[in-house]
Amino acid sequence: MASETDARHGQPPARADISGRVVAPSMLAADPARFGEQVDGLLDAGARVFHFDVMDGHFVPPISFGPGVIAALSERIHARGGVVDVHLMVEHPERQIDAVVQSGADVITVHIEALTHPHYVLSQIRAAGCLAGLALNPGTGAEVVQPLADLIDVGLCMTVNPGWGGQRFIDRMRPKIARMRTLLDSDASVEVDGGIDRMTGPICAALGANLIVAGSAILGAPVPALAYAEIARGVAAADTKTAAALR
Ligand code: DX5
Ligand code: ZN
Repeated sequence: MASETDARHGQPPARADISGRVVAPSMLAADPARFGEQVDGLLDAGARVFHFDVMDGHFVPPISFGPGVIAALSERIHARGGVVDVHLMVEHPERQIDAVVQSGADVITVHIEALTHPHYVLSQIRAAGCLAGLALNPGTGAEVVQPLADLIDVGLCMTVNPGWGGQRFIDRMRPKIARMRTLLDSDASVEVDGGIDRMTGPICAALGANLIVAGSAILGAPVPALAYAEIARGVAAADTKTAAALR
């Protein structure tokens, strides 16, 4: 009989450690023909959290990839101590949780805008042994996380409209990042996603974000490992004392 570990592609259902500041490459910007090779190159460069954008063609217009692709990569990420961070941009995300858990996800993030019963779905994700993330589109105010804070391990502040890589960081999200940091529990992560590069990544970290997703700025760069290292250095050095001036 397959063990619990085998069923989840090498990862036992223990809570992943995503504390501290982390830069997470987004595989949306990777070359599908070279996914494994590109993950290995970024693991060699020090990346440990990998962000997977699942899009259904309904919640957002594009279709990206699903649990099958994540399952094909999660074992090599877990083997090096890494974390699989899945961002579900789909309608009815509650119907996908089981398949995404089985693909090896450690963090599963759902959009508040796609949910009728966010309390229930966040509980469902935690009950499956994963960290529960709640994502907010740019037009959604930070305050929605307050009544759900007990159930949120990761609050994701979208810094572009979801659906596409390579968009420009929306500057007006700056105070929202700081506000989400205040509203969430101190042991929860604040994640930012969209338009993150060597300039905007450190700004978000100074404002209180600790999980910093970057797609095209890393995987669209001539040498992704070098681009990852540069953003990670800037994020590590960001000073939260400068937050007030950055809002
Ligand atoms: C956008 C996705 C992002 C995307 C970010 O809907 O959620 O994760 O990969 O891409 P960049 O970093 O290129 O803005
Ligand atoms: Zn994303």
